[in-house]
Amino acid sequence: MSRSAYRSPAIGRRFFYLGVTVAKIEQLQCRECGRSYESAPIYVCDFCFAPLEPVFDYDDIASRISRESIKEGPASIWRYSELLPAPSDRRVDIGAGLTPLLKADRLAAELGISSLYIKNDTANPTHSFKDRVVSVALTVAREMGFDTVSCASTGNLANAVAAHAAKARLRSFVFIPANLEQGMVITTAIYGGNLVAVEGNYDHVNKLCSETAQKGEWGFVNVNLRPFYSEGSKTLAFEVAEQLGWRSPDHVVVPVASGSLLTKFRKGLQEYHKVGILDDAPHTKVHAAQAVGCNPVVAAIKGGTDVIRPVKPDTIAKSLAIGNPADGYYAAAAVSETGGTGEDVTDEEIVSGIRLLASTEGIFAETAGGVTIAALKKMAEAGVFAESETVVALITGMGLKTAEALTGRVGPNFHISGNLDKFEEEMRLLSA
Ligand SMILES: Cc1ncc(COP(=O)(O)O)c(C=O)c1O
Ligand SMILES: [Zn+2]
Repeated sequence: MSRSAYRSPAIGRRFFYLGVTVAKIEQLQCRECGRSYESAPIYVCDFCFAPLEPVFDYDDIASRISRESIKEGPASIWRYSELLPAPSDRRVDIGAGLTPLLKADRLAAELGISSLYIKNDTANPTHSFKDRVVSVALTVAREMGFDTVSCASTGNLANAVAAHAAKARLRSFVFIPANLEQGMVITTAIYGGNLVAVEGNYDHVNKLCSETAQKGEWGFVNVNLRPFYSEGSKTLAFEVAEQLGWRSPDHVVVPVASGSLLTKFRKGLQEYHKVGILDDAPHTKVHAAQAVGCNPVVAAIKGGTDVIRPVKPDTIAKSLAIGNPADGYYAAAAVSETGGTGEDVTDEEIVSGIRLLASTEGIFAETAGGVTIAALKKMAEAGVFAESETVVALITGMGLKTAEALTGRVGPNFHISGNLDKFEEEMRLLSA
């Protein structure tokens, strides 16, 4: 079917004053019906309400991109700018990306996995993978002429938006559930900007933001800028493949909230092959990790259905606590299409996962990382990973932000007066 560019009434009505399209991307396209839209701060198809995505000319990109051109690029996500929907020369950049991929031999031995890597995205500027998506989204927001940027966040996105907005001299309004961890709140508020704590859970926050976004005055990174924002997650896949020596892993375990990261990780590998960076078509099995207290995507995967039933979140993994995930359907589909699995883990297992990663690999992850490691453990026990296969676990956020989850669970082993005799007495007791 031939599809002519459809000028959304929404563009004319709400965004006329902006008068610009994003120079790099001329069109957005509906994931379901394929209808085209002029590039603008819009995110759903007016006809079928499916999400919109930027349109890339892969043949053209293939003629310009190579492994060498990537390696010569910046030491950040912007080395992949050919496959990002934002202009690199006007980027908002505080150094997101190119985080370590670590061979995790101690954890692998513990879990009985032959070849395991940890992608340590705690090493990003605000210590989560959200810096990747926000660097892209705020570049686009600035191009579109927004002077105020905003988001609905479970914590990490709030950090990243506040920090990048500070750097870009954009006004920010960041909305979070009022009950977030102190670590998340402080690491957002420190950048200035406006932090709005909303009574209720993320789904309430998101509803409020969707309504506010309708006015079209602010660039909401994960609402009206979502088609651009979400593409930033592809850089995790680009990096993992580059760091593995230009090959895709056999398995990747991905923590899931809205489902965007998982969906775009897979898309990133597919695109890499399309433009000739990966020789073979990616065979990576994509696995989803969620908390039992907020498991709408994993429940669908386990139930063998593509119907995502919203839940009311109740888990210490607050950064993953999205009860009604926007891309849940696509995430579940990506898992099933690649032959992946889903696992959900209890709060106790999350804490054990955090401790296991820290005590074997020296990486302190937030609760989402605990979810990933605990799910990885269950998958290993279930025999999901064959001998000789390469497994990558995405550690997407840093432990200090959610230290509260460990309060009363870790602390000093000894409490003594500062006196050598006392210490030696303790040591004698220990070796007795
Ligand atoms: C640390 C962390 N990991 C993973 C995710 C999941 O991201 P997505 O909403 O794209 O599924 C989030 C979302 O907020 C997060 O904060
Ligand atoms: Zn459509």
